[in-house]
Amino acid sequence: MSEVTNTIFSPELAARFDKLVTIYPLRRSALVPMLLYAQDEIGYVSEAVITEIAQRIEITELDVRNVLSYYSMLRTKPAGKYNVQVCTNISCMLRGGYDILDHCKQRFGIGHKQVTPDGQFSLEEVECIGACCWAPAVQVNYDFHDDLTPQKLDTILDMYAAGLNPTGGKDVR
Ligand code: FES
Repeated sequence: MSEVTNTIFSPELAARFDKLVTIYPLRRSALVPMLLYAQDEIGYVSEAVITEIAQRIEITELDVRNVLSYYSMLRTKPAGKYNVQVCTNISCMLRGGYDILDHCKQRFGIGHKQVTPDGQFSLEEVECIGACCWAPAVQVNYDFHDDLTPQKLDTILDMYAAGLNPTGGKDVR
């Protein structure tokens, strides 16, 4: 078994990873959860994250990269403090998803997968986020916002910009 002696993760996350690789019949089954936890802690999946996770799971870095390229929720560049994901899949598209996306582009002055100069917001156009019944929908970090109009979204984004969480939930980042 590979020993990781010089971890880049916090002691809490390193301990979680130590356990995670033991609970699945195959170590590599822990790969996606580990990448998500690492992304939450580091902000993105860096080269150092890829190296350590490959070592922990005992797979090649290429195996990690292949999985990384498949999952759009995993990113290899830093996102903004608030990552705004706008769905433009069919239900949202029919109910103004592209208006929401264009509004975000104008408000932030950035495009798909870009970050505002102050690092506060990043923007992504994404496929269905599972909120089709309440389209159009947007996800900000782990919070969902639905049945949106550009005006409603502005109110929500104003709250994030002011350091408030519009859902009343705990900000995980
Ligand atoms: S199509 Fe937008 S949430 Fe499903």
